[in-house]
Amino acid sequence: MKITLTRGLRSLSLAAAFGAVLGLAGPARADTYPQRPITMVVPFAAGGPTDVVARIVAEHMSRSLGQQVVIENVTGAGGTTGITRAAQAAPDGYTIMMGHMGTHGAAPALFKGLKYDPAKSFDPIGMAAGTPIVIVARKDFAAADLKAFIAAVKSGGPSINQAHAGVGSVSHSTGILFDAKVGAKPTLVVYRGTGPALNDLMAGQVDFMTDQIVNVAPQITGGTIKAYAIATPERSPALPDVPTTREAGLDDYEVSAWNAVFAPKGLPKEVAAKLEAALGKALEDETTRKRILDLGGTVPASAERGPAALQTLVESEVARWTPVLRAAADGTP
Ligand code: MLT
Repeated sequence: MKITLTRGLRSLSLAAAFGAVLGLAGPARADTYPQRPITMVVPFAAGGPTDVVARIVAEHMSRSLGQQVVIENVTGAGGTTGITRAAQAAPDGYTIMMGHMGTHGAAPALFKGLKYDPAKSFDPIGMAAGTPIVIVARKDFAAADLKAFIAAVKSGGPSINQAHAGVGSVSHSTGILFDAKVGAKPTLVVYRGTGPALNDLMAGQVDFMTDQIVNVAPQITGGTIKAYAIATPERSPALPDVPTTREAGLDDYEVSAWNAVFAPKGLPKEVAAKLEAALGKALEDETTRKRILDLGGTVPASAERGPAALQTLVESEVARWTPVLRAAADGTP
């Protein structure tokens, strides 16, 4: 077909054609998303609670998206290294992240020079799991119950080693909150995640930590570490013999963490919708739910776990934890 165009018309048509191709590519690109594997950044070491939750939901998301959701552990700085990396990735749906109450709630209070804003730098995709906090110690720690444990940690001072996963992490923020509540000043020992920390706890290299139940439940059940209490109003069905902090005599220490999927800010709507749908399907899947529940995690009701609910949660968590943790941090080493 011979096309003759005047100069003006030609440039207009070429621009239109170019725009049409781009335009065609734009919606088509979102329509056919995903066309290649998706990276889910986990900002802590493999084997820890964030990694465990991420791998459980990523497995089902891979099936419903038809592309592999590949976990990439990017550790350091209490999880903020990985979250910063993910926040700066292209908002094209091929980089998402598993954040939590530490990286997207506590970090602003504790991490000077944070390179992202939990409430503004991301598109929330949805909640993944609620993760109650358990006070755990090496299995031969002499205290018979929580009251004796608290007395020993207080009297032990810096000779007691408390593990955590970096400033602003869940184990750090809930750990310094515990220390402030009971008036303890242990030595804080930092790890790239509470997966490696748990290994040292089982080996007796550190004395205790406050960690998410999905990491420590199997070891508590197996007797390789000791649990003194769970910091929730009710006991966990996964750990029926572990008393609540209130039952064990510590009234005002009730903390629970959460894990959630985020994307860099600016996702195309269709891409965000596909990711939200895939996460929702994962949390409706009986096998996926059972894996989370068996580890003591909780699955939020569908009305409480979508992007809008997550955005509201992030904003409320930053507001809640900032004054509490700044006060706690002032009182600890
Ligand atoms: C933390 O915030 O303590 C992390 O969840 C630890 C981890 O996932 O390894």
